[in-house]
Amino acid sequence: MTTPSYHIAVIPGDGIGTEVMPPAQKLLDLAGQRYGFSFEWEEFDWGCEYYSRTGRMMSENGIEQLAECDQIFLGAVGFPGVPDHVSLWGLLIPIRRAFQQYINLRPVKLLAGIESPLRKIPAGGIDFLVVRENNEGEYSESGGRLYRGTPQELAIQESVFTRFGVERAMRYAINLAEQRKGILASATKSNGIIHTMPFWDEILRELGTEHPDLKISEYHIDALAALFVLDPARFDVVVASNLFGDILTDLGAAIIGSIGIAPSANLNPEGRFPSMFEPVHGSAPDIAGQGKANPMGQIWAASMMLDHLGQEEAGKALLDTMEHVLEKTSVRTADIGGSSTTDEVSDALVAAFDQVSNAGATA
Ligand code: NAI
Ligand code: MG
Repeated sequence: MTTPSYHIAVIPGDGIGTEVMPPAQKLLDLAGQRYGFSFEWEEFDWGCEYYSRTGRMMSENGIEQLAECDQIFLGAVGFPGVPDHVSLWGLLIPIRRAFQQYINLRPVKLLAGIESPLRKIPAGGIDFLVVRENNEGEYSESGGRLYRGTPQELAIQESVFTRFGVERAMRYAINLAEQRKGILASATKSNGIIHTMPFWDEILRELGTEHPDLKISEYHIDALAALFVLDPARFDVVVASNLFGDILTDLGAAIIGSIGIAPSANLNPEGRFPSMFEPVHGSAPDIAGQGKANPMGQIWAASMMLDHLGQEEAGKALLDTMEHVLEKTSVRTADIGGSSTTDEVSDALVAAFDQVSNAGATA
């Protein structure tokens, strides 16, 4: 039998993206050796430095080049001097849209060995998934600015919600909830946002009638944010629009200990196009180049990529390895209360991987 080989586009990007990527690739290679597959890495030096040289965030035929790959593994983009809307709209958003990565899946799970900033939460006491609509909504190019630099200056930003786009995100979330505890929470704001959000709610109610078994609740986004802090244990799957999901998942990352741990999968669920896996965090210019970055968000994203490739056993081994190091050792970066460097965490994970994956094999 031939062992599968996956052709992966690697975009380390900027800042700490370039520091957390090598440890994640190392663990993926190890997982491949252990579970019988391999990676062919194709690295692209796109990002803000590339932009300062070329005036573009990615090469002109970048999307065509990525289309040749099985999946995309991204670090982070963004750097002082390049406006954030340029870096986002020049790379991440075009990739998410060209490849119909219409689901942004973000687990919010408190790992063993990590203390939540919330009081008295045991490991596993926070364990839910946020499904963020990833192709439309509030992140739209529709709108404009008029009378720049004059007293009448104005800006209009339009949100775009389509039945097609909302329905497919909700169906994905419903399906996930059915495989879990059957509890779905929807983020809305239909009191203040009077066109798009009532539309969002109506579609959810329609789909809900097809799934009477599910417990579906609608929450205004402000109250929902408070509940992430006050009662995170109530959530199982949360579905949200592009902006709401973005904001909620930074909060989700905070309650599980650090944004340095949280992962994110930009999924094209049908597999017609490559999906893209990345940590939730950005390029963290404040700590870049100091060896302080936590590589665990990138490694958890690697674990999600393995799941998507159908290598669930290997994906679980990476997550178990992280939990093993967090629970059994004091090796950890400063964002989660330690003083280890990125390399020290990486070495501890590599050392733990064999132990964990062998234990898994004999269990
Ligand atoms: P950020 O996530 O880069 O940093 C927020 C805070 O968390 C900082 O204090 C940082 O030091 C800390 N942090 C982040 N990741 C960490 C890690 N792995 N280990 C330890 N500490 C970590 O968000 P910020 O500061 O708002 O944005 C910085 C740049 O990143 C901006 O240019 C922004 O546009 C970009 N960005 C890019 C994203 C992406 O590529 N998907 C996502 C979010 C921001
Ligand atoms: Mg964000």
